[in-house]
Amino acid sequence: MRTHIPPLDPTSLRQQIPALQLTVAGQTAVYLDGPGGTQVPQSVIQAIVGYLAHGGSNQGGLFFTSRYTDEVTAVARQAMMHFYNARQPEEIIFGPNMTTLTFAISRAVAHTWQPGDEIIVTGLDHDANISPWLLAAEERGVNVRWLDFDPADCTLRLDTLPSLLSEKTRLVAVTHASNAVGSITDVKHVVQLAHEAGALVYVDAVHYAPHGLIDVQALDCDFLVASVYKFFGGHVGVLYGKYEWLDQLKAYKVRPAPSKPAGKWETGTPGFESLAGVAAAVEYIAAIGGPEGTLRERLVRAMRHIKAYETGLSAYFLKEAAQLPGLHVYGITDIESVEQRTPTFAVSLAGHTPEDVAARLGERGIFVWHGDYYALAVMERLGLQNKGGLVRIGFVHYNTYDEADRLLAALAELAAEEA
Ligand SMILES: Cc1ncc(COP(=O)(O)O)c(C=O)c1O
Repeated sequence: MRTHIPPLDPTSLRQQIPALQLTVAGQTAVYLDGPGGTQVPQSVIQAIVGYLAHGGSNQGGLFFTSRYTDEVTAVARQAMMHFYNARQPEEIIFGPNMTTLTFAISRAVAHTWQPGDEIIVTGLDHDANISPWLLAAEERGVNVRWLDFDPADCTLRLDTLPSLLSEKTRLVAVTHASNAVGSITDVKHVVQLAHEAGALVYVDAVHYAPHGLIDVQALDCDFLVASVYKFFGGHVGVLYGKYEWLDQLKAYKVRPAPSKPAGKWETGTPGFESLAGVAAAVEYIAAIGGPEGTLRERLVRAMRHIKAYETGLSAYFLKEAAQLPGLHVYGITDIESVEQRTPTFAVSLAGHTPEDVAARLGERGIFVWHGDYYALAVMERLGLQNKGGLVRIGFVHYNTYDEADRLLAALAELAAEEA
């Protein structure tokens, strides 16, 4: 039964996104691969193409096209400042993607560590928020402690965090939400505990960004990073850092590059065309919150609508999935707690490998990922890394209840093969 009708209309939003018209084997494609990258509205496409068509140049020149590029970059920075609720544009750093930005920051932060110091990483994180820290720790003789998650519902064991923290802890690297099982972390609580111990906090918000409001001031985190291609834009990573850290830390940069944030951290020539799509992606989301108020106020409302819609869709999926013989959903499955997860479901189907399920759904035009999606630690903890991982079904706000029904029907067909 469909119960929740929130104020978000995916039908009209879908019309803005050309890729959603794609047909596969005579049927409209069902994109349930959002956690691997979302589809892009026409306004973002126009902004990206528009930059290339306009005539661009590298930044910092004293002529028309270079000034245009500077303007495009400044507009993108402003948009992301509002998206994250940062204090100033210089706290926003662009890079090729989250992984590359995290390697850069981890190297710079590690420069301040001493042998015997400690850092904390979590078992719920994507490997892009684990390996850079492990490598940095190894280089500096720093000990790594792991924050575990409860395999029963795949939520972080925050009750154990105080016992992992000490005066030796220099950093906690934590996910805002798991890209595998969808669990949302109480980041504010992590930051409070870490700061009491004198540790910095680095937040991976890549998976969370299309699903919920980010507020770096409310979280009080030291760094936070996301990727625009996961929230309806092009391929570019965006890091927030508290200005004092971005200013103080040593950046690995070439000599002529700026010595102050943000330029100090932005190595080489960015993908300006992707940057040109950033403000359009942020505006696409803000428009879901209606026309009234500041950009930030519209984003706050938009994320409330998105959350309400996705919560309803999650509850619907979970209720129906529970009826399907042989289907096991990992992570939070209690409908009462559904707000504590994103609509990202890692599942297994008895009698089928994850690869088989993904391939068979793919034949029907339903796009899902299988394997570990780089959430290596999650799969290892669940004992699934050597068994092909899991199938990941990832809804975003442009997915519909009808698409959920198509998926469920296809899974039921596969399940019946085994009966
Ligand atoms: C949670 C999470 N963190 C980090 C990454 C890596 O992001 P990027 O592709 O921008 O390096 C991903 C990509 O899937 C992700 O889902």
